[in-house]
Amino acid sequence: MSWRSPSARLGLVAVMLALLAFCFSYWWQGNLWHEVAGTLVLTFILRHVLNNGWWWRLARGRWTLARAVASVLTLLLALDVLVVTLTSLAISRSLSLPLPGTFTLREIHWFAAWWMVALVGVHLGLNAGRVARFLRWSMLPAAGRAALGMAALGLAVQGVFSGAILGLWPRLMFRYSLAMWDFNASVLPFFGHWIAVVMLFAVIGRGIATALDWQLRRSAFA
Ligand code: HEM
Repeated sequence: MSWRSPSARLGLVAVMLALLAFCFSYWWQGNLWHEVAGTLVLTFILRHVLNNGWWWRLARGRWTLARAVASVLTLLLALDVLVVTLTSLAISRSLSLPLPGTFTLREIHWFAAWWMVALVGVHLGLNAGRVARFLRWSMLPAAGRAALGMAALGLAVQGVFSGAILGLWPRLMFRYSLAMWDFNASVLPFFGHWIAVVMLFAVIGRGIATALDWQLRRSAFA
């Protein structure tokens, strides 16, 4: 199996998501595992960002509203990854670099990390068409596709409540939240809430992609 095959690429996306989720369970396994998982996921993401030819394609082709919106959202995610990477280096307890103002850098690290959940979800939603092609979604019977669509929508609705439980909504507004998961009481539900939140943003991303596609078709026939 080649590393470029659809199943290998989807497997890599699943590993990236699992590692990213693990990064948010900071108080479960502690700082060292957080730093190890964070370094791995950032390496994966940076490799994905730098190596997929997207940057070169930016300079080519015709610009439409759909392309501009999708590109801005992707650039925001790339910027966010850069911020998390730089602040990680600055606040790392393993590296212990003698830098001033680490409290502010830690705050930037937290808020950029929480925004990564939203931006990764939207990014997945924008690229859902490709994921569906990889999974041969169109080969499924219509009833199967409808059932999976309903399950995704149900999970997205749960994501609204899960975001509140995880304290995500104030954090996305750059405000503090007292929400803190008690990993001694349970572990799996934390990851369930995390998946629901990513699904909520993926559905939003899918909605944006569908609206832009519709706008594009409308302008093509106008
Ligand atoms: C995508 C990767 C990463 C994400 C999503 C992430 C996310 C987070 C979050 C949400 C927190 C706050 C934990 C809490 O108090 O609940 C945190 C704290 C922290 N992270 Fe990361 N992180 C990532 C990568 C890294 C890396 C690579 C390092 C270092 C090599 C690192 C070092 C730290 C440290 C030292 C803290 C504790 C800061 C403090 O004293 O409050 N992180 N991270």
